[in-house]
Amino acid sequence: MDYAVSGVLIPSDQIADRVRVLGERIGRDYAGQDLMMVGILKGAVIFMSDLVRCIPPDVRVTMDFMAVSSYGDSTKTSGIVRIVKDLDSSIKGKNVLLVEDIVDTGLTLSYLIRLMREREPKSLRVCSLLDKEERRTVEVPVEYRGFRIPDTFVVGYGLDYSGQWRNYPDIRTVEPVRDAEL
Ligand code: IMP
Ligand code: MG
Repeated sequence: MDYAVSGVLIPSDQIADRVRVLGERIGRDYAGQDLMMVGILKGAVIFMSDLVRCIPPDVRVTMDFMAVSSYGDSTKTSGIVRIVKDLDSSIKGKNVLLVEDIVDTGLTLSYLIRLMREREPKSLRVCSLLDKEERRTVEVPVEYRGFRIPDTFVVGYGLDYSGQWRNYPDIRTVEPVRDAEL
């Protein structure tokens, strides 16, 4: 089965408005404090780079990244997560905000949360642009959420299908195409 990019689910101006609101909330919650933002590569890169600029400078922000790969096909995760790139610095005693593009089953984040907790941060919260709540198989706390979306595969604004289509400025659905149409 092959897929093609289809209609716009969330237009870019709505994403920008929501990211601004999230940034302001994070700004209030961590005012006067340090905050280490940990982006999960590669999907969260575009969201995180917009989000960080919406957090007022009285929060002392640092940025780090982790890359994980979950064994599975292009549209599903298996729950077995491998760390491809770990953080560059220690999170011990720090306020950590995990920044994700999307929470689907929750398996990736629940694994990462467990791993991060063992490293004894001062606090640990999750910020995800998208949430496919009805697909959740393990509970994960998402303190900052952009949008709840239905159970449909989406691309754009950093999210990919087999590495492609991250560069759409909006969030779009994908549709299967029959071989005959290729
Ligand atoms: P989870 O472990 O099932 O919660 O899956 C989370 C990861 O699967 C996300 O970080 C994405 O990389 C990927 N993913 C889940 N749903 C989508 C989608 O609709 N589009 C693109 N990637 C997705
Ligand atoms: Mg991801």
